[in-house]
Amino acid sequence: MSHISVAIDGPSGAGKSTLARRAAEELGFRYLDTGAIYRTVGLAARESGVDPGDSASVIGLLPGLGLDIVFDENGLQHMVLKGRDVSREIRENDISRYASQVSAIPQVREFLLELQRKFAREHDVVMDGRDIGTVVLPDAEVKVFLTAAAEDRAQRRYQELKAQGQPVDYESILSQVLERDRNDTTRSAAPLRQAEDAIRLDTTGLSQEESLARLLKLIRERLGTS
Ligand code: DC
Repeated sequence: MSHISVAIDGPSGAGKSTLARRAAEELGFRYLDTGAIYRTVGLAARESGVDPGDSASVIGLLPGLGLDIVFDENGLQHMVLKGRDVSREIRENDISRYASQVSAIPQVREFLLELQRKFAREHDVVMDGRDIGTVVLPDAEVKVFLTAAAEDRAQRRYQELKAQGQPVDYESILSQVLERDRNDTTRSAAPLRQAEDAIRLDTTGLSQEESLARLLKLIRERLGTS
């Protein structure tokens, strides 16, 4: 039986993961957060004392990585590293930088490609990331490019980290967002770009509920289920 894939790409902090997860819930699909997978590789580098910019050392970690994705009874994704649930640790602010750097290494992307494709073969899925519509699932039934102004994205990230009790200031979050945008869009391996057949959804100034309603509307229109 073939399965339906919805690919959601876009820059950091555009609200992709929350919106993709909620859209998947509404549609009765699985949600796969691919950024969490890159974050787990980033965490593995940090734990091994490997500089994430040192490609050869990061590549050396891949064979013994011990990365697993498991889903709990609520359908929520957990990342496992060598048998340990690291779902919380990968959200630490520092890991964003590690993830961004390891994700620029072509061998890391290649290593994770089949894992993501296999998931889409086995489930109806909403998958979010940077290269889902362009590289991972070029034949996805629906492709969305979700974006928002950098200041909006930094503000959301700032609120999120503050709510988690992490020490942050807005200006440094904004410069991190801009730096990650630069890394993600200028890298040579699968840079962040909108697929030609993706629908652009700009959530600047929209609430989460408004964004979700628009996202679901366009997915349903594309799937012919509206
Ligand atoms: O979405 P996120 O912030 O959790 O992603 C973490 C990093 O991983 C980000 O710098 C971009 C990278 N990434 C990627 O290169 N390709 C994906 N499909 C998902 C994330």
